[in-house]
Amino acid sequence: MEASAPSKGIFDSANLEAREHVVELLRKAYWMEIETVMSYISASVNLDGVRALEVKESLREDVEEELGHARRFAERIKELYGVVPGSDDFAAEQSYLQPPEEQTDIVHVIRGVIKAETGAIEHYTRVIEETEGVDPVTQDMVIEILHDEQGHRRLFEGFLREYEVEGIA
Ligand SMILES: [Fe+2]
Ligand SMILES: [Fe+2]
Repeated sequence: MEASAPSKGIFDSANLEAREHVVELLRKAYWMEIETVMSYISASVNLDGVRALEVKESLREDVEEELGHARRFAERIKELYGVVPGSDDFAAEQSYLQPPEEQTDIVHVIRGVIKAETGAIEHYTRVIEETEGVDPVTQDMVIEILHDEQGHRRLFEGFLREYEVEGIA
């Protein structure tokens, strides 16, 4: 009996299709992070008012984290022999995170952030499921990033709760 070559997992030629699929999932994740960076920068600057300060500060910190996520997704795309897309491929999806009519409308931004984080959580959960037994390294990375997004979402749910209790949201 012929000895089979040791497995290189996701890098095996037999796994080419699986690898390309993972790269596709990562490209979507990369764009989600880039768009989040854009939306969070604008919200962290646009908002007005004393009550907005906490939310703005928190968004400023998130911008750095989301940018870090975008970089990690880009690096992983490269490691999997994919190509990090150029700006021509970008298509905006966060219609709900456009600047509000009134820049004091903090609730609009909080709800938008929760929606963006929820979208990320859903996509990353899918990536984790689809890389199970296929690409444990990508899976591990995405588990860490998912943890960050869950933290972001929870924080903004707390902000929203405060406005709900006061009957403003
Ligand atoms: Fe992120
Ligand atoms: Fe996030």
